[in-house]
Amino acid sequence: MGMFSRKRLSTLMEETSVEGGHTLRRTLTASNLVLLGIGAIIGAGIFVLTGTAAANHAGPAIVISFVLAGMGCLFAGLCYAEFASMIPIAGSAYTYGYATLGELVAWIIGWDLILEYLFAASTVAVGWSGYVVAFLHRLGVDLPVSLTTAPYTVEGTSDLVATGAILNVPAVLLVLLLTGLLVVGIRESATVNNIIVFVKLAIVLLVIGFGATYVDPANWSPFIPEANDKGQFGWNGIAAGAGVIFFAYIGFDAVSTAAQEAKNPQRDLPIGILGSLAVCTVLYILMALVMTGIAPYHELNVPHPVDVAVSKAGPALSWLAMLVDIGAIAGLASVVLVMLMGQPRIFFAMARDGLLPPVLGRVHPRFATPHVATIVTGLVAAVVAGLFPIGLLGELVSIGTLFAFVIVCAGVWVLRRRDPGAKRAFRTPWVPLVPILGIGTCGYLMIGLGQGTWLRLLVWLAIGLAIYFGYGRRHSKLAAEP
Ligand code: ALA
Repeated sequence: MGMFSRKRLSTLMEETSVEGGHTLRRTLTASNLVLLGIGAIIGAGIFVLTGTAAANHAGPAIVISFVLAGMGCLFAGLCYAEFASMIPIAGSAYTYGYATLGELVAWIIGWDLILEYLFAASTVAVGWSGYVVAFLHRLGVDLPVSLTTAPYTVEGTSDLVATGAILNVPAVLLVLLLTGLLVVGIRESATVNNIIVFVKLAIVLLVIGFGATYVDPANWSPFIPEANDKGQFGWNGIAAGAGVIFFAYIGFDAVSTAAQEAKNPQRDLPIGILGSLAVCTVLYILMALVMTGIAPYHELNVPHPVDVAVSKAGPALSWLAMLVDIGAIAGLASVVLVMLMGQPRIFFAMARDGLLPPVLGRVHPRFATPHVATIVTGLVAAVVAGLFPIGLLGELVSIGTLFAFVIVCAGVWVLRRRDPGAKRAFRTPWVPLVPILGIGTCGYLMIGLGQGTWLRLLVWLAIGLAIYFGYGRRHSKLAAEP
């Protein structure tokens, strides 16, 4: 057995009980999962990056970017759903990769998913901090900039530049607080999450409904601003914008990481993934239209663009601007929560397979949560959130996730050929067309992201390979089998 060895599906299904006889509790229903998905999806992407991407890349045509990125997610989501219904255990794409493409590829996906969940938690925490600052400013309290923004940013492809700030304190505190909540248990966390998701949906619907009446169509023209010599706008700008706001869709796959906690995973995971994705796609397109319709797009390059857009409508909507801040604060926190919940479950699956140290696979005897992995995740996410700006983190998360999606799409296709008879509660339609379209669209979005982001992805993968060959390969449980 070596780095190309694959796990048998039947073995995977037997592994649902974990070390020490403690198992994760099965408490989540289909509607919990849809809400979990929406909770993970609507976050800093729509609340923050829409503004930056419209101002820097696409103008009002950010709406087209949303359509493009949504298509990539639909194809990838259809593939995720087939895998999730076949292999409904913790670990998501990592586990699917192990069954289809072998241990080395599984490791790469798992390592890449760390980039997605852990760094996404940090990214959204930074966005949360921006709305906290805006909200307190409304109340007449101004926090010092040096304690609410990142001390480092990156210029060009790789130069780390000090900004003069000390630490993004609110972002760090949020991550630490939510980590504590997750250590105590998923059931409590899911209830809190459900309440917040309703608040968030209500805010988005209010902005769309009330904002629509204040749209000035002049702001939409030209809808696709002409490309300039800095590579902004025009069709390339739409593609680059799509890569950036792709971040807004990330999260529907978090549903699959809760597979071991779902009551009826075979039926409910596909419902959770595709249902939450569909709702969010429609909302995003409407929201982007309203935001760029109320405010000129170049005014949206701020940490709290939805607030700025709504405020543009004048005093009549100032009540809504206040609610937007409150909704964003509650809503973005719920995203951080789901991301912080997804990541330990990936660590957990990798540790169970021997690719990471076994301590990460421990389950708390009383709380029944993967507490060690949760704490490690929380500490790293807190440090990253404290040090780096949202744009840098968001693009890195986007490229990492797109890469994982490409592999998942390929995996569905491979497994159909290799194991056509396996039971599939949900079948991706039109294989191989849908996987090919998924690979094509996601690959295209990756190309739209800048050189610096590519470089950082490659460095991250190189570190991962070093760990695999230094540790995982020698400790792999599968490799040790006769
Ligand atoms: N899609 C999530 C967000 O936009 C990650 O915050």
